[in-house]
Amino acid sequence: MQTPQTEMDIFQAILARRSVRSYTRQRVTHKTIMALLTGAARAPAVLHEEPCAFVIIQDRELLQTLSDYTRPLLNTRPEIYDNVSIQVSNHPDFNLFYDAGTLIIICTRSAAPFAEANCWLAAENLILAACGMNLGTCIIGAALPAMKTLELKPRFGIPDQFEAVVPIVLGWPRGEARRVPRKAPVIVNMIPSLLD
Ligand SMILES: Cc1cc2nc3c(=O)[nH]c(=O)nc-3n(C[C@H](O)[C@H](O)[C@H](O)COP(=O)(O)O)c2cc1C
Repeated sequence: MQTPQTEMDIFQAILARRSVRSYTRQRVTHKTIMALLTGAARAPAVLHEEPCAFVIIQDRELLQTLSDYTRPLLNTRPEIYDNVSIQVSNHPDFNLFYDAGTLIIICTRSAAPFAEANCWLAAENLILAACGMNLGTCIIGAALPAMKTLELKPRFGIPDQFEAVVPIVLGWPRGEARRVPRKAPVIVNMIPSLLD
């Protein structure tokens, strides 16, 4: 595969990445998506026989409809969703997918240990590669319970034998994403100690 043009090196991308919740209308091309999926598929994986799989939805209207279907579930599961997302979901313009043009759902059909870990590692590869191309992403964990219901799973295009693990929206960011302050890494032990 030809390496896609990126704007930053890997550590710059790690530091620059933010969850993006506002997107322009500019479409992400098929070629770019294929490059991101190739990057995702190169993540560490325990199950070579059963790699994670991808559902790609590039249809804003459908995503708004799927958001509308999901909205009632957000209000009935306060143990999963914090008060802020429940309040936001009551807003008439609510769109769980932030009106992004693309939703990528990383799925697995394996129940083996670490099958989900494979998907999360693939997700991080995809997210960082996207950031390196100046694209924005946001994990939409709030959509997962809907994607697992018998009624909504097929509407998200997830085949019977697969389970959704990581939904990620993708698109060209509109403006700067909010920076969330992070704590310094907690080192509970270091052997041998650097202080010796
Ligand atoms: C498992 C998981 C689920 C998440 N689900 C959502 C979600 O449903 N909606 C959302 O806006 N952000 C979601 N996020 C993004 C987090 O809110 C975000 O990563 C966090 O606030 C830190 O901000 P940053 O990603 O900009 O550093 C999720 C993140 C993770 C890791």
